Amino acid sequence: MAASVAGSDETQRLLQRFLSEVKPLDEMRTASDPRNTTETKWFTVTDAEEELAAGAYVLEIAEDRVDIRASGSEGVVNALTTLRQLLPPQAWRRGGPPAGGWSVPCGIVVDTPVYGWRGAMLDVARHFFPKRTVLRYIDLLAAHRFNRLHLHLADDQGWRVESRRHPRLHSIASWRPSTRLGPDGVPDGTPHGGYYTLDDLAEISAYARSRGITIVPEIDVPGHTSALRAAYPELGEPGREHAVQDTVWAGGSSISPTRPVVSFLQEVLEEILDVVDTPYVHLGGDECDMSWWTSDPAIAAEMAEHGYTDVKQMHGHFLRSLGGFLAGRGVRMVVWDEGFVTGGVLDDTIVMAWRGHEVAGRAAASHDVVRAPLFPTYFNFDQSDLPGERRSEGGPITLGDVAAFPPAPDEWPADRRARVLGGQFQIWTEWVPNERHLDYLSFPRACALAEVLWAGKITDLPEFEERLATHLARLDALGVEYRPLDGPHPWQAGGTGVWRRSGEGQIEETKKWVESVSREA
Ligand code: ACM
Repeated sequence: MAASVAGSDETQRLLQRFLSEVKPLDEMRTASDPRNTTETKWFTVTDAEEELAAGAYVLEIAEDRVDIRASGSEGVVNALTTLRQLLPPQAWRRGGPPAGGWSVPCGIVVDTPVYGWRGAMLDVARHFFPKRTVLRYIDLLAAHRFNRLHLHLADDQGWRVESRRHPRLHSIASWRPSTRLGPDGVPDGTPHGGYYTLDDLAEISAYARSRGITIVPEIDVPGHTSALRAAYPELGEPGREHAVQDTVWAGGSSISPTRPVVSFLQEVLEEILDVVDTPYVHLGGDECDMSWWTSDPAIAAEMAEHGYTDVKQMHGHFLRSLGGFLAGRGVRMVVWDEGFVTGGVLDDTIVMAWRGHEVAGRAAASHDVVRAPLFPTYFNFDQSDLPGERRSEGGPITLGDVAAFPPAPDEWPADRRARVLGGQFQIWTEWVPNERHLDYLSFPRACALAEVLWAGKITDLPEFEERLATHLARLDALGVEYRPLDGPHPWQAGGTGVWRRSGEGQIEETKKWVESVSREA
């Protein structure tokens, strides 16, 4: 092995893997190094002596050596990604180097991310994606220096993780007998489902970690819980039956915010925390129907105990109770912005702001915030107004919209801007039944968001698009079925069947709606 490696075992493993992927190692050499490098200790990774931020690195390529300096494995992963980017697109294929080996230009790259939270959210509840898709997605995210994968593991349409304590979660709540696409959809009569075993989740977590990515598991409560209630009806409104929903849009049921339900969920979260290596767990908190809470005697009794007069206080109390449990395990709670509005936050809770700018700004006055606004980070929306786009929730949210997204808007005061940890894009999968469409919706918009989160902003869109053209060749090499910049391939279009686009996007109306609900107290 012609590489000399300092640092931790983890760093060594990273380097060995990288070198085996661009194999064969001995054929890689710097551009002006005509010697056979087999005998040379030419590759070093060292812990940075200087203070480098998480994810930051120094990559130095000289005639006879490559040096990487970073403070941790995330920085090493990013440096190796940069080194690979400096090779031809061919280096992203699995076939190894051309005759004569790889050649890489000499130079030095000193690189620091502006934002520490560079994420993607994948909804595996509306449509399930098997483990192999998630592992591949992790590779694609790592290739763009994303460092968080938020897995939306539970919703009205399915529960996606094994529970040994409460096995009806995976045996009952993980599948539905049929799916209806869209409000006017008819049941397709085809069972849909699946879940990750705890061993799968442990594997996903370890795989992500070794690629610089932290998994953020989400169990969305107390709303969006039809699947949970189908398995354990006693957690919800007494006397009301619920099935795993076959409609793929929102509007499901809620569970009770009382103590026995908190205990049940703690047991579930404990199982997840035993296998996922993460300092963050997302508890949802969004779009909760609290109407039946006002007339439920058990809820009324707990409210009286705490002196609460409004069920929204119970919503906040419920999230804080679970957050306290997580804190006992050294884990920070993450909530959607409704959780912030009802007081369902502890001091260190991260508020994931999905609605308008107003609530994000309000939350940033007191809490760390991850920006995930519907516009422009809901990548399940269309990418253009071309009639060929496939049916979706609406849109368009274009590449240019994403490129112009300011995670910490200039008009915010400095103290609020400083609370913005970063941002993430979301793929809600009501209309995303498979990996091919996941690729189509994710890329190339994810490339633009990756650039915004790493560099802070994209100031020159044409210049970015020029670089993107080069990058698309890497995506081709990786086998990513992205959306071409001038519109979908014929086989990516909606056609004339159920996937036909239902009409012009209404993005301006959607933006107004999301901003108005964001002002709700
Ligand atoms: C959300 O879109 N309800 C987070």
